[in-house]
Amino acid sequence: MKMKNSGYVVIMILLISFFRESFSVSYTNFDAFFKNITGGKNINLRPVLDHKSKVNIYMFFHLINIQEFNEVEGKLSLTGYFNISWVDQTISWNSTDNEIEEVTLEEHIIWKPSFIIGNSYDGVKFIHKDHTVMRVQSNGVVKWTPGDNYEVVCNADVSRYPFDTQLCKLQILPWGYTSEEIVVVPIYDYIVQLWFNPQKTWEFIESSIAKNEGLQLLEFSMKLKRNPMFFVLNLILPICVMIILNIFVFLLPPESGERVGYAVTVLLAIAVFLTISSDNLPATSSPRISSISLLLFTDVVISAVIVLMVILSLRYYHREDTYLVSSFMRGFVNVSRILRCQVCSCRRKKEKYNETGNEEEIKWTDVGKEIDIICGIFITVVICIVNALYIIDVTVGLPGLD
Ligand SMILES: *[C@@H]1O[C@H](CO)[C@@H](O)[C@H](O)[C@H]1NC(C)=O
Ligand SMILES: *[C@@H]1O[C@H](CO)[C@@H](O)[C@H](O)[C@H]1NC(C)=O
Ligand SMILES: *[C@@H]1O[C@H](CO)[C@@H](O)[C@H](O)[C@H]1NC(C)=O
Repeated sequence: MKMKNSGYVVIMILLISFFRESFSVSYTNFDAFFKNITGGKNINLRPVLDHKSKVNIYMFFHLINIQEFNEVEGKLSLTGYFNISWVDQTISWNSTDNEIEEVTLEEHIIWKPSFIIGNSYDGVKFIHKDHTVMRVQSNGVVKWTPGDNYEVVCNADVSRYPFDTQLCKLQILPWGYTSEEIVVVPIYDYIVQLWFNPQKTWEFIESSIAKNEGLQLLEFSMKLKRNPMFFVLNLILPICVMIILNIFVFLLPPESGERVGYAVTVLLAIAVFLTISSDNLPATSSPRISSISLLLFTDVVISAVIVLMVILSLRYYHREDTYLVSSFMRGFVNVSRILRCQVCSCRRKKEKYNETGNEEEIKWTDVGKEIDIICGIFITVVICIVNALYIIDVTVGLPGLD
């Protein structure tokens, strides 16, 4: 019985001492501790014991996703969060005493720095929303991770659209403190992409961070490259097909009576693509006009010239032979024939000339055919040059255009 009792007592003592241990971090104790470390704080005062010293604020930026880059409006919309930490010299406790390593505090309890977006698209925006929380360690280190969806100004340079690369910036600067009071220190010299979700249209290439000492402004720069395949398939290739189709108008027989209709239809189709592409581009010519706009404009001009050439050649083709072919036109046909025979071996025609003699009579239909051939060759060469210039410009850049 005695043994049983003493065993009971030992168990009771053990239990009580166990509860004492756990009572040291019970709700009431924690509450008292919490009031002790947070009570009587003026959250407007920087947490330094010597008012002359500066607060070092360490920060970096986690990019989570790039929601949208609207190049027409010059707006980049991205989601991410900042990892900001500093030392609050007014808070510290001995964690071996009470086994509390960290506490979570709502804002409005201790001091925190405020930052605004320097290049916000719409008004002055803070980087944090209300009711963010912070973790405070026993040595006074405060960790704060405010995050949001940020909309920043990013003026697109679409001169090489759709093969363009954009440089967008997110600028952060402290609100209400000078460089005498706080010092912003970027931890990394790049944007952290641990949780980044890649975007389909824009590929994230690289990032960098620059700092303005006077303003304590941090500038997070990111380089985005457009994925051009969609635009190549939906814009560039159809335009190329249209303009190549356009050349074939010179192969249509003049008797068919369809030539002008065909040429005008292709001209209108190219004009439709001009409208589509201008919807996707900002209405600006700075830093320079987009080369796709130049290409489309040139294609419209070429198409218009083709319509004029077709009308001209039809006019000559259908001219009555009661009018004599002028000596200028006869000379033109002869020179053109000789040039063509030198370039390619057209033996059949040479034989024909030999049979009938050089003084073969030239009719207006011959003039029309010759104009067709010359115009066709000329337009083909011009189109090849224009497209080659476009390709050179979007790949390596034309010095004259920049
Ligand atoms: C409150 O703080 C004082 C001094 O900082 C300390 O002596 C005391 O033990 C603290 N009380 C609690 C409950 O932590
Ligand atoms: C913030 O950075 C610190 C190190 O500087 C790290 O320990 C902590 O986990 C980070 N917090 C988040 C939410 O990324
Ligand atoms: C914390 O408390 C333990 C004992 O409770 C003591 O040994 C240690 O020196 C204290 N640490 C500090 C930094 O005061």
